[in-house]
Amino acid sequence: MKIGIIGAGRMGQALAGLFTRAGHDVILSNSRGPESLADIVDEFNGHCSAGTVQEAVDSTDLVFLATPWGKTAAAVSVVENWDGKIVVDTTNNRTAPGPQGVIDIGGRISSEVVA
Ligand SMILES: NC(=O)c1ccc[n+]([C@@H]2O[C@H](COP(=O)([O-])OP(=O)(O)OC[C@H]3O[C@@H](n4cnc5c(N)ncnc54)[C@H](OP(=O)(O)O)[C@@H]3O)[C@@H](O)[C@H]2O)c1
Repeated sequence: MKIGIIGAGRMGQALAGLFTRAGHDVILSNSRGPESLADIVDEFNGHCSAGTVQEAVDSTDLVFLATPWGKTAAAVSVVENWDGKIVVDTTNNRTAPGPQGVIDIGGRISSEVVA
């Protein structure tokens, strides 16, 4: 399967490692562009390439969101068409672990807000 990941930090790279080891092909993306990910994608045994956020959505079957809460809206806004795309949201309304790190979203479920 071809899997796109938006966000190439701790979560995005952990997912890329799991998926590539399982034989899937991953496109990893971030806000700074594919060139900034050259060293990172080299670590994933040829099953991972760097792309733009748009490419991570358009060229794959399944997309994982792995961006910080305050940056997710901007990250997904560059994609014009999400029709038919399966999206898995790993984001949380947090700035840090623990009760003090929770961002108040009025009792809603964070993935409901993202959706
Ligand atoms: N579900 C869980 O169990 C779990 C566990 C841990 C974390 N999380 C969540 O996972 C998310 C990511 O956490 P993390 O620790 O991996 O964060 P992180 O290490 O800070 O990485 C964030 C990534 O998002 C990218 N990004 C930021 N703005 C972007 C944009 N506009 N377009 C595209 N990419 C953008 C960053 O790219 P640049 O460097 O180019 O800005 C970076 O690659 C958070 O929401 C966190 O709460 C979930």
